[in-house]
Amino acid sequence: MDRIYEQYTDKIMSAEEAAELIVSDMTLGCSGFTMVGYPKAVPQAVAALGQAKNLTVLTGASVGEALDGSLVNAGLTARRYPYQTNKTIRNAINAGQVLYADQHLSHTAAFLNRGVGPKVDVAVIECAAVTEEGLVPAATVGVSDSYVRLADKVIVELNETLPLELYGMHDIYTPSVVGGPVPVNDVMDRIGTPVIPCPAEKIAAIVVTDVVGDYPKFKPADDDSQAIAENIVTFLKGEVAAGRQPKSLTPLQSGVGSVANAVLSGLATSGFSGVRIFTEVIQDSALNLIRDGIAIGASCTSLSLSESAQKEFFDNIGYYRDRVIIRPQEVSNHPELVRRLSLIAMNTPIECDIYGNVNSTHIMGTKIMNGIGGSGDFARNAGLSIFATASTAKGGLISCVVPMCSHIDHTEHDVQVLVTEQGVADLRWKAPRERAELIIENCAHPDYKPMLREYFRDALALGGHTPHDLTKALSWHQRFIETGSMK
Ligand code: COA
Repeated sequence: MDRIYEQYTDKIMSAEEAAELIVSDMTLGCSGFTMVGYPKAVPQAVAALGQAKNLTVLTGASVGEALDGSLVNAGLTARRYPYQTNKTIRNAINAGQVLYADQHLSHTAAFLNRGVGPKVDVAVIECAAVTEEGLVPAATVGVSDSYVRLADKVIVELNETLPLELYGMHDIYTPSVVGGPVPVNDVMDRIGTPVIPCPAEKIAAIVVTDVVGDYPKFKPADDDSQAIAENIVTFLKGEVAAGRQPKSLTPLQSGVGSVANAVLSGLATSGFSGVRIFTEVIQDSALNLIRDGIAIGASCTSLSLSESAQKEFFDNIGYYRDRVIIRPQEVSNHPELVRRLSLIAMNTPIECDIYGNVNSTHIMGTKIMNGIGGSGDFARNAGLSIFATASTAKGGLISCVVPMCSHIDHTEHDVQVLVTEQGVADLRWKAPRERAELIIENCAHPDYKPMLREYFRDALALGGHTPHDLTKALSWHQRFIETGSMK
């Protein structure tokens, strides 16, 4: 397969020439999801040119410095959706310089295709190839299918470092355009096309690059994350023993970050086999499960891999092509499929409270960390919804189990099981007062248990279905802000 369909060669131009197509007040629909497959050369050229002010920047999810950093440093990004993790843009958001609304990631394409949201002017999509039928994306789809569909113009960043063997791994199907039920009944069902359809007249520029972006970095599993993984494995084995899960488990979804990565690593030595993965993001440990034959099939919208894992993936892409499907995030995170496949959803909170509410996004109630991502798509609809975190952060100065979350992304109704390195709280069918007992005794760190018990005892004296002392409820966070410790 050629990288560029021969009749498109006259569209090849430099990043600087393509950057001229982007002007002030435009909305850019960019590829990119969890640091994978985002355009780099064109955004950097737009930043260097410095003319296009007040941009609204849409992506699949998080992207690297070459996109978010360069546009923010040049003062060009005004609005950003639907998810980010880059430090430069995070600081600009928390300083109020960039307006950000983080969205359930299944919503972005669904809203835009219904005409809810900004008009997409230009799609900027990193690709491995441009064929007569359409675009072969990088190892992610995100919202690219919808951005290409909705944009007036498409700028292709053709990255020559991407293997052409990516062709055939994608399954492009846009539920909000097709309508009706999404016909995925099993993890490996293919329902769409291998390329993103793109009419020739929309392709305004093809920029050939070989720029490699930032790679995600995962902290190595430490004692806490290993204990969390062991607790989850023990819990899942209990579910199998009780007949609530099949031996090979229902398909797994695993969240983003180091803890989620470590949790899936724990499955490698768990004795489970024949596992299937239906998730948003495949991180290193999920790739290892596929490599080692423990997972027999995986569906995702992005392979977010460290440098060494990406090398393993690209070097053995023939093996992975038969076992991995890359879909639009509207499909990978579709609530209908999450429920139909009865997923085991495993996500990571920043903090949880004694009644089982979860904060996934805000530090001390005010500063955004990343965003809700797909955690809400999965937690609300999964067959089994698990949230797992270390019981403390910042060397023990913060308890991740608090009386009341400083911000709530997932309510007590969407959190079935809480896990820390201390243990497991199975909250299903439990009343608030029972949940508080379980969470404090099974999940809180011993340093904070006496304080939590005291809070709960005093709250109980005030009564109520969900007892709280509202004057004290957020005093833990305030104490940390004032003294640097919750103790
Ligand atoms: N209060 C303050 N800071 C906290 C905290 C708390 N309760 N808990 C964690 N942190 C800090 C950590 O200290 C760390 O800071 P650092 O970057 O300065 O070292 C940072 O948050 C990340 O924590 P870490 O323990 O390394 O977790 P992680 O890499 O596993 O990521 C989330 C955890 C919550 C940030 C991440 O999972 C996330 O963004 N989740 C929301 C989106 C989501 O769930 N998507 C999944 C859908 S598929």
